Amino acid sequence: MDYTELEKIVSQQMKASRFEHSLGVVEVCEVLSRRFRLDVELSRMTGIFHDWARYMDGSKMLSFCRKNSIEVYAEEEASPMLLHGAVAAWYFPRITNIWDDRAVKAIRNHTLASPDMGALGAVLYVADYSEKGRRHLDDNDRLIIWGKPNLEQMVLEVLKREEEYSFTVSRPMADISVKTRDFLLSGGKFEI
Ligand SMILES: [Fe+2]
Ligand SMILES: [Fe+2]
Repeated sequence: MDYTELEKIVSQQMKASRFEHSLGVVEVCEVLSRRFRLDVELSRMTGIFHDWARYMDGSKMLSFCRKNSIEVYAEEEASPMLLHGAVAAWYFPRITNIWDDRAVKAIRNHTLASPDMGALGAVLYVADYSEKGRRHLDDNDRLIIWGKPNLEQMVLEVLKREEEYSFTVSRPMADISVKTRDFLLSGGKFEI
C-alpha cells in the first residue's frame, strides 16, 4: 500500500478537523524527513495514520492492549485515551502490509515520546506538536522548534514546552517523557 491509498482509508473514518490535523502533520513529516534524509514515504504514512484510533473508546483500547500484550504505561492506564498511538501502531502493519519497526515505534510513541521512538518517531512527535493547525503555537514558536539543528534538540524543545504546560495544569510529566528528556540531555541519539 502507498501513501495515497492509506490517506483515502484514513479520510473515511475521521472527522474533517482531525483529518485536517493529520494532513498538517504529513506536511511537516515530509519536510523534516527530507531534511534529515529519512524515508519520506514511510514518514508521510505515519503522519496520516498516527491518530487513526483517536475515536476508539478508552476502556476498549485498554482491553485491546491487554489482549494483544501491548505494554501500557501507568499514565496510559490512568488516561486510556493516550493509548490511541499504541492501538494505531498495532494496526499500521496489518492495514498497510508494511512491516517496518520504525513506523510502528513512531506511531506508538507519538503522544508521550520515548528514547526508543527512533528518528522517524522524533519527526512524527515534532510534527504532531507543531503542524500549522495547532493553535497553541505562533509562527515564531514554530521557527524556534524547526530552527533547531537536529531532531534531538527539536524533541527537547517540544518536551520543554510540554513540561511547562504540565506545570501550569498541575499534572506531572509522564515517566517516559521524563526518561526521553534525560536520555537527550545526556547526549542520547535517536536510532535511524
Ligand atoms: Fe495523537
Ligand atoms: Fe495528532
